[in-house]
Amino acid sequence: MKKKILVTCALPYVNNVPHIGNIAGSHLPSDIFARFCRLAGYETVFIGGSDEHGTPIEVSAEKAGVTPKELCDKYYEIHKGIYDWLDISYDNFSRTSLPEHHKTTQEFFKKIYENGYISEGVLKLPYCEKDKRILPDRYVEGVCPKCGYENARGDQCERCSTLLNPDELNEPRCAICGTRPVFRKVKHLFLNLDKLEPQLREWIKSKEKLWSSQVVNMAMGWMGEGLKPRCITRDIKWGVKIPLKGYEDKVFYVWFDAPIGYISSTKEWAKKIGKPEEWRRFWQEDDSFIFHFIGKDNIPFHTIFWPGMLLACGEYTLPYRVAGLQYLNYEGDKISKSKGWGVFCENLPKAGLSSDIWRFYLTLLIPETNDTEWKWKEFQERVNKELVGNLGNFIYRTFSFIQRNFESKVPEGELEDKDEKVIDLGKEYAEVISDLIWDIHLRDGLRKVLELSDRGNKYFQANEPWKAVKENRKKAATTLHVCANLCYDLAVLLSPYLPKSSHEICRQLNVELGDMRSIGRRINAGHKINEPKPLFPKLGDRDIEDLKKVTSQVSELDKLFEEVDYQYFSRLDLRTAKIIKAERIKNSDLVKIKVDVGGREKQLIAGIGKHYTPEELNGKSIVIVNNMKPRIIKGIKSEAMLLAAVTPKKISLITTDSEIESGSKVE
Ligand code: 2FM
Ligand code: ZN
Repeated sequence: MKKKILVTCALPYVNNVPHIGNIAGSHLPSDIFARFCRLAGYETVFIGGSDEHGTPIEVSAEKAGVTPKELCDKYYEIHKGIYDWLDISYDNFSRTSLPEHHKTTQEFFKKIYENGYISEGVLKLPYCEKDKRILPDRYVEGVCPKCGYENARGDQCERCSTLLNPDELNEPRCAICGTRPVFRKVKHLFLNLDKLEPQLREWIKSKEKLWSSQVVNMAMGWMGEGLKPRCITRDIKWGVKIPLKGYEDKVFYVWFDAPIGYISSTKEWAKKIGKPEEWRRFWQEDDSFIFHFIGKDNIPFHTIFWPGMLLACGEYTLPYRVAGLQYLNYEGDKISKSKGWGVFCENLPKAGLSSDIWRFYLTLLIPETNDTEWKWKEFQERVNKELVGNLGNFIYRTFSFIQRNFESKVPEGELEDKDEKVIDLGKEYAEVISDLIWDIHLRDGLRKVLELSDRGNKYFQANEPWKAVKENRKKAATTLHVCANLCYDLAVLLSPYLPKSSHEICRQLNVELGDMRSIGRRINAGHKINEPKPLFPKLGDRDIEDLKKVTSQVSELDKLFEEVDYQYFSRLDLRTAKIIKAERIKNSDLVKIKVDVGGREKQLIAGIGKHYTPEELNGKSIVIVNNMKPRIIKGIKSEAMLLAAVTPKKISLITTDSEIESGSKVE
């Protein structure tokens, strides 16, 4: 019987634009895995969607001055667009704000309630009498009881990192209006994880061999302290309403409804394919394999809280595997939007490379066991060495040799043992690669594909068909026959990783891309191939510089929702400066400006030539970023940056309101 596989990827919050860490940390590994399952002939559904509830969304929306719905509508499209562009092959990418999800969550809750796993409890929560609302953790600020920091948040002090409850803050104040909240006793609902503990413990134990040690350890770590009932309701408006009398003003905690999103998205998929009951085969039958791909911060929720919910409900299949991935860093540091440090996915289409090239390097960086790190130098080396020099070279040299010497027809071979061995490598590697991917060693799987291509190259090289074609045509024909077949096998094995390239190989080879069983099926002698074309571009140093620039841009949309603290702001050394001399740089809109900063001379290059003549600039008192890292622009050193107000049509320099010494601090 065919295996039934349900693959899910953690549902992202849609209050920002995804970066490469989000891709390598969940969407790409789950996609590779789902593509492999389809290729292996398993019945596969790959489910995703957006997580649209909870305080993260409410807070972002409030900051942006839009409703949570407006915020999510906008970002849902951006997320979906990025995943589509990267060929993440979701069978359905749903939204937790849809009615189907709300209904599914409420039914799920009712069942747990009926089964006796919900209890009522009382919490002491901050209430703002002016705003007339209970304040979620992040809406309360005050003095940290531990370090005295004045702007500690109700959930955590940002200075000393202590985890807090709002009632522990000294001098608490409402983050919206600044008044002191009162603490009220409020009724809430709790999931009785304590009652579920023995079952959960047994279940996790049964996974000890199957799951990675990190996932098991983290789950057991949580268990170690004993499970307590966990609050599943919140006093906010945005979310799934609670179908219970007395709780009309509350919604479910986002981590209660989010994982149920996997089920509602599967239901939506079933409706879309015209078989509305089909979702049950994946969620309500014991023989289905459910794989959750998630980041490490989500591990406790997927190994304890979610399975606890499933056990309490009693109507659904529990996960088979929880693949918890680590983090991807960027050039020695954490990826940071506010610092423009990373590769931000909304820029990828602008960068001009095929999505496969990004998928390629990101696959090598999937943080399967440890945190990994994006390095541009390595990106360049890997692309040039593996994609261009190894894989692309093998495919192109094979096809162009056939075109030039065999009238574009796959030649007939007379295979000796040594050739048979090579042509059979496809099958041999297919087995190894399948095992690796099934065990979620995705990077090793790709390494094996590249190893196969390398063996193809070595075989080609050793048989020297360019010589043989003149002296022993049959031998050259045999070599090319073997290589053409290997090219096909490579296309199949590559398809979970680089789907576009895999199709392109098949297009050039003029064959349909088949599934795993088609590996080793021979291409007939005489089969006509299409015009060969190199698959991948070689990347020079200049290309890398350009790519770096384009991909690190932070979109305006995202900046809108960002907060920086004073500490971050104060890293900028802003100073007044007096322009001593300005001159236009030939054939450009750039102006070279010499300034005096408190007695020190500095030179900077600014793109304001269209808006100011050098004469207008001379003598002005402007504001500069004094500690800007020096840059070379058009071969000239720029040691600072001037500040100006900018619209698409106009630039207006920031100047001082009254006479003040140059070099004065701007803060
Ligand atoms: O951490 C996050 O981004 C969550 N939105 C993940 C949710 S996963 C699932 F439960 F939906
Ligand atoms: Zn208030």
